[in-house]
Amino acid sequence: MRMYDIIMKKRNGEELTTEEINFFVSGYTKGEIPDYQVSALMMAIYFQKMNKRETADLTKAMVDSGETIDLSLIEGIKVDKHSTGGVGDTTTLILGPIVAAAGAPVAKMSGRGLGHTGGTIDKLESFDGFSVEMPVEKFIKNVNEKKIAIGGQTANLAPADKKLYALRDVTATVDNMSLIASSIMSKKIASGADAIVLDVKTGSGAFMKDEDSSFELAKEMVDIGTHVGRNTIGVVTDMDQPLGFAIGNALEVKEAIDTLNGEGPEDLTELCLTLGSHMLVLGKKAKNAEEAREILKEIIRSGEGISKLRELVEAQGGNPEFVDNPSLFTNPSIVEEIVSPIEGYVKEIKADDIGLAALVLGAGRETKESEIDLSVGVVLHKKIGDFVKKGESIATIYANNEDKKKSSEEIILKAYGIVDEKIKPKQLIKGIVTKDGIKKF
Ligand code: URA
Ligand code: CA
Repeated sequence: MRMYDIIMKKRNGEELTTEEINFFVSGYTKGEIPDYQVSALMMAIYFQKMNKRETADLTKAMVDSGETIDLSLIEGIKVDKHSTGGVGDTTTLILGPIVAAAGAPVAKMSGRGLGHTGGTIDKLESFDGFSVEMPVEKFIKNVNEKKIAIGGQTANLAPADKKLYALRDVTATVDNMSLIASSIMSKKIASGADAIVLDVKTGSGAFMKDEDSSFELAKEMVDIGTHVGRNTIGVVTDMDQPLGFAIGNALEVKEAIDTLNGEGPEDLTELCLTLGSHMLVLGKKAKNAEEAREILKEIIRSGEGISKLRELVEAQGGNPEFVDNPSLFTNPSIVEEIVSPIEGYVKEIKADDIGLAALVLGAGRETKESEIDLSVGVVLHKKIGDFVKKGESIATIYANNEDKKKSSEEIILKAYGIVDEKIKPKQLIKGIVTKDGIKKF
């Protein structure tokens, strides 16, 4: 088999066989096929696309390129959640505890990664002493006894995807439906989940800017999951503005604590109840989504959710007092309000720019070596549809450096679009996708 022929075949719009897909994935992983040939193939796939069978084969080949995690020693159905990314997404910190409190095992492997803010692990490290380092035996024991553990990604999961994603990133071939779907699903499948709930974002802060392509991406991923025997549900949700109010590590942890206490932002709470109820249904802890939602609301109301977070923090070496006294989290030296220069209704809040405003303060990593400042970030006070008076605060900046604060402030003021006419609030949940089809709300 020759790489040249595979490239030409796809360039001409033909379907690749399972053997051809396995050949290039394994050859590329081993370093036997050079970047330039794989780049050409990615560009051919970008233009000519892949069908469902090719996409499923690509996913399987990437899963088989590395290790897979065996979670069979954990009792019950392991349901994982994946979000396609966005700004200020704090859901894992809330979903983990409430789903675990409902009795479904949460065996979460999280990453650090690059981005506007840190990953789930960075956020959890805001609790003094918290660590994700533990032997596999302890991880499994914690999930069996406490129903929740959060570990670092140590195994060599889907290395083919790591190489391909990095290559796509620099060759303008990221935003192809089949390539995104197989990339995300290969990692979820390799990490051992029995069932998967996908939060597919749509809007200005998401990969997919329009709703139709977001539903198509969700369907593509649900079909892959179904094809490999993992029950999968996709929920398409709004990312035209940041989720919740807080963007920044400790700030988001505090927001998660508020939400677990029943006092969180409406959109964040609603998203967690929606995703959590699908997780409970797939995990067979509720008969249907309505029943699951009632269970989760009761878990928040009774305080079982916040107790579960306390238990998780303590089990992994963190100081659980922070949960009851959030003023213990490290505080930044500068706290400043940003006020609106005009009066009107908020029409848009460019999510990517708000992410950037947090990044320039030091909340995220620009390179793998960057140090994160856990204390800094932005807390919004106005969301799309809200009325703002001239001189009223639209956001608070938490900073440790005057120059960075100034740059961040400029970005935030530009990110807000304020107009005279009344604007309707955004619909958060756009619809759900199952193996049986698409339901738009
Ligand atoms: N996230 C991934 O992991 N892969 C993609 O291709 C896009 C987003
Ligand atoms: Ca948030």
